[in-house]
Amino acid sequence: MKILVTGGTGYIGSHTVVELQNAGHDVVVVDNLSNSNEISLKRVAKITGKDVEFHRIDIRDFDSLDELIGKNHFDCCIHFAGLKAVGESVSKPLDYYDNNICGTVALLRALNKHNCKNIIFSSSACVYGNPEIIPISEQCPKGACTNPYGQTKHFIEEIMTDLHKSDPDWNIVLLRYFNPIGAHQSGMIGEDPNGVPNNLMPYITQVAIGKRAELSVFGNDYDTHDGTGVRDYIHVVDLARGHVCALRAITDKCGLEIFNLGTGHGYSVLDVVHAFENANGVKIPYSLKPRRAGDVPVCYADSSKAQRVLGWHAEFNLEDMCRDSWNWQKNNPNGYSK
Ligand code: NAD
Ligand code: UFG
Repeated sequence: MKILVTGGTGYIGSHTVVELQNAGHDVVVVDNLSNSNEISLKRVAKITGKDVEFHRIDIRDFDSLDELIGKNHFDCCIHFAGLKAVGESVSKPLDYYDNNICGTVALLRALNKHNCKNIIFSSSACVYGNPEIIPISEQCPKGACTNPYGQTKHFIEEIMTDLHKSDPDWNIVLLRYFNPIGAHQSGMIGEDPNGVPNNLMPYITQVAIGKRAELSVFGNDYDTHDGTGVRDYIHVVDLARGHVCALRAITDKCGLEIFNLGTGHGYSVLDVVHAFENANGVKIPYSLKPRRAGDVPVCYADSSKAQRVLGWHAEFNLEDMCRDSWNWQKNNPNGYSK
C-alpha cells in the first residue's frame, strides 16, 4: 500500500516507517519538524535500505496537503503529527487546540477531497482519564481529561466519529497507546526529547548517562504494591507493528474501530527503575517527591481486542525495553544533534 505518514520523523512515527517499509509498503512522510529531526529518516533508510520520501509541511497548511495528496494516490494515512507535552498544553492551550485539532481537520479535508478515506490515528490512554475499570478495555467509559493535550485526543476522536457517521465510506482506526518506551534494536533511532524530559524513561536514561543528577519519583503513597504510579509500558517497536496490523482492518473496510495498544502488564515507577538497573548494570539514584498534578494512580490495558481482531500482541518485555532505551541513549548521548 502507499501510505501517507504525518509526524513520521518523530519518535513513534520513525519506528513505524521502519516497520511499514519492512512490510513492503511505500511511505511518504510529512512533518513540520517542530519536535523532530530529519536525520531520523536518514537513519530509517540505513536500517531498511530504502529511502523515505519527505515533505516539510505543516498539516495546518491545507493547500500544501491538497497539492501533495492530489499528486499521489494514497491508500491510507497514518496520522501521528501533533504536539504532545502535557505540561506545556496547560500553559499554551490555544497552541495545542490549533495545532492538533485544526491540523487534523485540515488533513481530513484534504484526504476527503481526494477520496482517500482511510486513516489510522494516534490516540492515547489518557482519554480514559482516571479509569473506572482496570485493566482498561475499549468499552471503558472515556473520562475527564485533566489537560488540554488529552482533550485534543478526545475531541479528535469525536470529530473522526462524526465524520464516519456522515460518510460510512470512511475507514477510521483509533489506536489508544499506553506508554511507549524503548527504541529500535539497532540503536539508530529513538526518543529525542527537547529540554528536560517529562516522561519517565527518557528521564531515567538521562540520569544514567550523567546529564541529570537523580530521578524524582512523583508520589509513593498511591494504592499500588510499592506506592508509586503504575503504567503499561510498551516497546515502541511493538507499537509500530500495531500500525502495520491495523492496516488489515482498513483493508477489511472496518468502518470505525478502536483498539488499545498495550501489553496488559502494569509496572510501578520503582519496578521500571530496578528493571533498568538490572538490565543495564547502571545505578539510577532517585528521591521520593510529592505526586505530580494530573497523574492517575494505575493505568494498564486490556488489549485482547487487538489480539483477536488484528492478530497483534506485544512481544517485548520490560527488560527488552530498558536495554533498548539505554542502547539508544548510550549511542546517541545528545539524540540526533550529535
Ligand atoms: P513526536 O513529537 O516525536 O512526534 C510527533 C511529530 O509530529 C513530530 O515529528 C513533530 O515535528 C510533528 N508535528 C507536530 N505538529 C505538526 C504539524 N502541525 N504539522 C506537521 N508535523 C507536526 O511524538 P511521538 O511520541 O512520536 O507521538 C506521536 C503521536 O502519538 C502524537 O500524536 C502523540 O500525541 C501520540 N501519543 C504519544 C504517546 C507517547 O507517550 N509518546 C502516547 C500516546 C499518544
Ligand atoms: N514519573 C516520575 N518521574 C518522572 C517522570 C514520570 O515518577 O520524572 C512517573 C509519573 O508520575 C507516572 C509514571 O512515571 O507515574 C509515568 O509517567 P510518564 O510521564 O512517563 O507517562 P504518563 O503515564 O504520565 O503519560 C504518558 C504520555 C501521555 C500519554 C500517556 C498514555 O506522556 O501523553 O502516557 O498512557 F497520554
